[in-house]
Amino acid sequence: MYIRLSEAYRYINENEFYNHNAVVIDVLRATSTMITALYNGCRHIVPVKKAEDAIRMQKDMDLVSEGILGGEQDAKRISGFDLGNSPLEYTRDNIGRKVIFLSTTNGTNAIVNAKHAKKLYIGALNNASAVARRVAAGAADTIISCAGTGGELSVDDFLTAGAIIDRIKNMDQEVRLNDSAIAAQRLYQMFCGKLGKAMAGSLHYEKLKKLKFDADIEYCLREDIIDLVPQYNDGLVVK
Ligand code: MLT
Repeated sequence: MYIRLSEAYRYINENEFYNHNAVVIDVLRATSTMITALYNGCRHIVPVKKAEDAIRMQKDMDLVSEGILGGEQDAKRISGFDLGNSPLEYTRDNIGRKVIFLSTTNGTNAIVNAKHAKKLYIGALNNASAVARRVAAGAADTIISCAGTGGELSVDDFLTAGAIIDRIKNMDQEVRLNDSAIAAQRLYQMFCGKLGKAMAGSLHYEKLKKLKFDADIEYCLREDIIDLVPQYNDGLVVK
């Protein structure tokens, strides 16, 4: 099995996903939010590129009363939406069995960009071991696609990829890695147990801190608290 890490979703063309499995990571915060929402019981998630797509699809699918509009622009809740992009908002009480229409700046775009993958898994630190087991069991060449920030590498996603790769390598020494994947694994090994330190000073991490999303950061950095690997199928992220 060969693992190729792509550091930001804009670095990889959607056609490169054909014949590969894929993992999409946006640890701060879109994929952490999706994993949490599905764990807490939402029916499924419709990830879309733009806020207006979320509004239109909720109407088209006739789910105005059974749907929730969620997402962010510039890390803040989109005006008129029910919820933002904080995983801590997606509690059982807030979401029930509803369908979530989610629009975020990088994360949902990264998922749609990887839509041609044979199997597309949603990854974060919260479910790192569960994702690693799924990738190892699939035994197929896999692209790990980090969402990134502003179209470029984001330390938080890169480290999360390293956490997943480290677990996969521990399960199967024969797995081959591209150089980005090797670098991510080594960075993770250096900062294991102190991931926040590795992220200090990085663009998106500091932005969330400035906006007082410290509780979100603390939650998103918790490894292996959820044993669930959401999958993207036909436009929906499902359990
Ligand atoms: C994104 O999709 O760019 C992020 O998840 C932004 C955020 O932290 O809300």
